[in-house]
Amino acid sequence: MSDKIRVPKGLYGVVVDESAIAKSDVSGSLVYAGYSIDDLAEHASFTEAAFLVLNGRLPKKGELEEFERLLRSNSSPPSDVYRIAGLLPADSHPMDSLRTCISALGAMMSHTQDRHTAELSLAAKMPALVSNCYRIAHGQVVVHPDSSLDYASDFLRMITGRIPGQTERWVFERVLMFYLEHDLNASSFTVRVIGSTLADVYAAVTGGLAALKGPLHGGANENAMKMLLEVGDPAKAQAFIDSMLAKGEKVPGFGHRVYKRVDPRAQLAKGLLKRLIEEVRADTSLYELCDAIERYMWEKKKLPANVDFYAAPIFYLLGIPIPLYTPIFAASRVFGWIAHYNEQLKDNKIIRPDVEYVGPRGLKYVPIEQR
Ligand SMILES: CC(C)(COP(=O)(O)OP(=O)(O)OC[C@H]1O[C@@H](n2cnc3c(N)ncnc32)[C@H](O)[C@@H]1OP(=O)(O)O)[C@@H](O)C(=O)NCCC(=O)NCCS
Repeated sequence: MSDKIRVPKGLYGVVVDESAIAKSDVSGSLVYAGYSIDDLAEHASFTEAAFLVLNGRLPKKGELEEFERLLRSNSSPPSDVYRIAGLLPADSHPMDSLRTCISALGAMMSHTQDRHTAELSLAAKMPALVSNCYRIAHGQVVVHPDSSLDYASDFLRMITGRIPGQTERWVFERVLMFYLEHDLNASSFTVRVIGSTLADVYAAVTGGLAALKGPLHGGANENAMKMLLEVGDPAKAQAFIDSMLAKGEKVPGFGHRVYKRVDPRAQLAKGLLKRLIEEVRADTSLYELCDAIERYMWEKKKLPANVDFYAAPIFYLLGIPIPLYTPIFAASRVFGWIAHYNEQLKDNKIIRPDVEYVGPRGLKYVPIEQR
């Protein structure tokens, strides 16, 4: 009898390791190192939550100041990285440019840095890379980080070109927090697989970026916004969804491997969308459209909206170009990836599963001219 274990496709419901970083649960809860996302969203700053995810505990005042100082002092990428970004076609997707730049950064820096320095240096540069890869592709001047601003304000400023108002900053920072970490999602698992080979953190994050780009994962926020713009009118929502489902298409921003009834991040983001609309006095039809699609998806398919569905209209109202939605997700999730990279290395065993071979056996080589 074989001692091999067969697991469901997509590793559905399979527990592959232990983690103390975060946990999403089918009941609709999400905790980062013991703290619920609701609690953190109400009280914490993004950098506090990032410290928590990286270190497993909330920072003391001095520790947070030092963490923020390190993020600020490492936030400017070398200009050679921007030269590389400038060589890419103008219509490259920003996720591809970002992945290329992180890979290039690794080639330039990984051999000169110890692991901890590399991790902070990489994560700190993400906001500038996200905004400037896009700017370079669009012939705009590079913007530099402003150390007088907090992390979220400066990130948004580098994208939109203006310092956000208080509510805009608050809302943007909350969405960054929702994207920070989500246990063993596809990109974090990728990072762990790469880390388990003892490759450096730049290599692991480059892999994480590649996995995040896909429309079933991080790419869903960009697609959700495109869909919302295409539908346009709440009255057209049902017909639009019916036609997608009839074609067997996945509706972006719906469904989740873990959450089957509610994604807590989506509901928090929905509240933030409402608040943002009131604050900037935007037309409420975007909220009504989202709500109509959400209700109909539940009625038709019993699928809940996920975080990407509500992050998308928030980013839209904040004036963020749609192709930057997934790169922004990446700039936040990088802290989660690094936490997973470190947790993997703490008690490492190379991740190398097996397959059941179902191909032919015993074939004899046939010379090419006889095939
Ligand atoms: C996230 C996702 C990949 C999860 O996949 P999964 O865990 O394999 O999904 P499930 O097995 O729970 O899907 C159950 C059923 O709902 C369907 N389904 C899931 N998400 C759907 C969606 N967004 N639109 C239409 N149908 C969907 C599946 O096709 C499946 O149908 P079947 O039983 O007839 O095959 C999937 O829901 C999806 O593709 N969503 C859209 C992309 C997205 O928003 N991704 C971001 C996730 S945070």
